[in-house]
Amino acid sequence: MESWVADIEFERPSGVGRVMKKLLINPIGNHMPGKLLRGLLRFTRSELAKSNWIDPGGWRSMVISYDGSPERMVDRILVKSGTIPMAARNRKKLAARLIAKLIDQVAQQPAHVLCLGAGPGHIIMEAMAQAGHQAEATLVDISEDAFDYGRQLAERCGLRDRVRFIQGDVRDIKKMLDNRVDIVKMIGICEYLEDDQIVSIVKAVSGMMPPNASIVFNSLSNRHGTDAFFRRVFGLHMIHRSVEQLQSLMGQAGFCDFDSFAEPLMVYEVVVGKRGPGRENSPKGRE
Ligand SMILES: C[S@@+](CC[C@H](N)C(=O)[O-])C[C@H]1O[C@@H](n2cnc3c(N)ncnc32)[C@H](O)[C@@H]1O
Repeated sequence: MESWVADIEFERPSGVGRVMKKLLINPIGNHMPGKLLRGLLRFTRSELAKSNWIDPGGWRSMVISYDGSPERMVDRILVKSGTIPMAARNRKKLAARLIAKLIDQVAQQPAHVLCLGAGPGHIIMEAMAQAGHQAEATLVDISEDAFDYGRQLAERCGLRDRVRFIQGDVRDIKKMLDNRVDIVKMIGICEYLEDDQIVSIVKAVSGMMPPNASIVFNSLSNRHGTDAFFRRVFGLHMIHRSVEQLQSLMGQAGFCDFDSFAEPLMVYEVVVGKRGPGRENSPKGRE
């Protein structure tokens, strides 16, 4: 699997950038009064800050971070030099490539990918475009408007007929499942869920997956060094979990044989696991 991702061109901060962040930018962001920082971001009309204030960790801030060159100067600085936005762009490349390769391994075509907390679907659409085999995707997100943007994105990618959008809470996923699932994608969502919620969601979806089907998720390390900034200024409360902690949760839901792939900033690792052979949850008869 390592060879699958060997040629990805990741973004890396410069040496000077790393030192500046450690000695100057992160301490200011983490310790300067939150009110002052929020005022500064309001004054400079930051779209990234505004989107986080409306919907902390929502899909719009993700789109601004993926874009890499937003309209406002303040946002360009935040997304180009910020550790989390850069790491998120790396995570997107990693996850899209891994999912594309996993799609190519599914014997039955089209493969069905279930995307939880999918946002408008950037990662899955990139994966479907890269894959050699046919795939269909079901995108689930709680946000009311993620899918207006998602439909436009699907249209642009020529994937309109192959993606289905379901607005809903992934904690209620059991009610939404109606089809065999070959790959489950949980990128950018576990950090917003409690341990027991992750286990119950994954147990529910595993019931629709054949043995050896894949799950793709990510860990989050606090190596980005800006957690206090995100909490105080953006109101964003992310749960940091190591690969081992997540594997243990996924293990409780019957997954095993994990492989993990770190992006160069070491903020995120993307992990692929396989559904174990347990028969009790077999999707047989429900395909
Ligand atoms: C950080 S974004 C990640 C989007 C996408 N997965 C990506 O990585 O580009 C998190 C997404 O999860 C969605 N979300 C958060 N909690 C959710 C829940 N309980 N049920 C469904 N979607 C949820 C948000 O609306 C948002 O679109």
